[in-house]
Amino acid sequence: ASSTEIDISAIQPGQSIKSSFRKQPLFVRNLTPQEIAAADAVPLSELRDPQTLAERTKAGKSNWLVTLGVCTHLGCVPLGAAEGENKGAFGGYFCPCHGSAYDTAGRIRSGPAPLNLAVPEYAFTTDTMITVG
Ligand code: FES
Repeated sequence: ASSTEIDISAIQPGQSIKSSFRKQPLFVRNLTPQEIAAADAVPLSELRDPQTLAERTKAGKSNWLVTLGVCTHLGCVPLGAAEGENKGAFGGYFCPCHGSAYDTAGRIRSGPAPLNLAVPEYAFTTDTMITVG
């Protein structure tokens, strides 16, 4: 299967982009220090699918959240990656289909979705370039 190269140099803190990977939506988000702190402040015991932000990002690059843009309930594309979209009650992404809300680590926090937004296989090829897949 093919991999996808994404230039992340233009994504400012607090911004995200929608790209695609193997015909699925892919979100790349540059978390602000406040968004990182919010994710790190959540006790794992409060999480339906317990994972730390560190487990969902690369070492030394925990501000870069790379996830599929596919709700783990029934597969709708959550809002929140584009400017002005509803990020939901937990500041990450919000799925309008049945109201699942994800936090700034892309973890499911409320609504029917069972799992966090999936983190695909990816690697930094430079500080401003990632290869997904
Ligand atoms: Fe996202 Fe149902 S598909 S909440």
